[in-house]
Amino acid sequence: MLVLGIETSCDETAAAIVETRPDYRKPWLLRSNVVASQVDIHRDWGGVVPELASRQHVRDICGVVERALSDANAAWPDVDALAVTQGPGLVGSLLVGVSFAKSAAWALQKPLVAVHHLAGHIESIWLEHGHIPLPAIILVVSGGHTSLYLVKQEGHYVLLGRTRDDAAGEAYDKVAKLLGLGYPGGPVLDRLARDGNDAAINFPGTRLTSPDRNAPARDGRFDFSFSGLKTSVLRHVRQRQAGLGTEQLPANEIADLAASFQFRVVDTLLDRAFAAAQWHGVKSIGIAGGVSANSRLRAEALARSGRSEIPVFIPSLALSTDNAAMIAAAGIRLLDAGRLAPPDLNAAASLSLSHH
Ligand code: KG4
Ligand code: ZN
Repeated sequence: MLVLGIETSCDETAAAIVETRPDYRKPWLLRSNVVASQVDIHRDWGGVVPELASRQHVRDICGVVERALSDANAAWPDVDALAVTQGPGLVGSLLVGVSFAKSAAWALQKPLVAVHHLAGHIESIWLEHGHIPLPAIILVVSGGHTSLYLVKQEGHYVLLGRTRDDAAGEAYDKVAKLLGLGYPGGPVLDRLARDGNDAAINFPGTRLTSPDRNAPARDGRFDFSFSGLKTSVLRHVRQRQAGLGTEQLPANEIADLAASFQFRVVDTLLDRAFAAAQWHGVKSIGIAGGVSANSRLRAEALARSGRSEIPVFIPSLALSTDNAAMIAAAGIRLLDAGRLAPPDLNAAASLSLSHH
């Protein structure tokens, strides 16, 4: 079966073809994975401008899907089912993918499934690695989300904790912005941090012990908070700027700052993920989402994995940041469960994964 995935939740127009096959070890084969990034358009504005994003999706969607088909050596009649991101994300952006997918499914008379963007990130781990030992703890770290899930059974996600304020990727983006390093902040801080001393500045970590007022049923132990760290970086930068009498900090100080900030983010993410893994006695840990492209997070996760003997699974870089292959993969789970989208499917900007 060939599944066409479509993803337009933020600033990447993406389409991909995933093939299902009768191979237990690797049931999903990635046939093509096309991403048209809008980063150059939004960079001038220091972040994603929703209206510009949806207009660019309209321009790109047809070409991106055609390309995904041709890269997979497939044509429209070969498509057996379609999967599209329903939410969460920017509603104008989501609508482009949802409208396109509904029209194509109707024209082809093929089934359509509606995918939650985070389910896509989670399933990128299965798409990359085939089966992973269960139960597993999955850490999803992206620009909009930082969450821990317990997966006992493939395709079923139980939320253990999430950020109370900023997502990890958002913290990267905001810190880069205040240093004048442009958008998106993750890749540039990752690169600069390599030349810095990660012990130069001792930024505080946040450990939450009280339950979230918005979700009192969870005990809060596995929640995250990154806004305090962001404020500490801001305060440090302002102090140094005042001390030096100039806005522009020297390159070595920026490198030290990037390394110290990154140390704290990575340490917090992995502390929480490994603590959850131990508490729930799981057999593996998966890490997905745009921030899982981070070089230090990848290296530290593998180092801790070696020490704790819990295997860690991370998708390749192309499947870490937003893409449509992960949407096709999560879509296959829904197709298998017979959970097709209704013909009046609509985009949902703040879709919750528990209703997935
Ligand atoms: O998953 P994603 O592509 O989109 C969302 O669903 O949000 O994640 C984008 C986020 C951005 O905040 C970006 O700065 C961050 O992932 N990111 C990184 C790296 N590459 C992308 N953060 C840290 N290090 C990286 N190498
Ligand atoms: Zn994402």
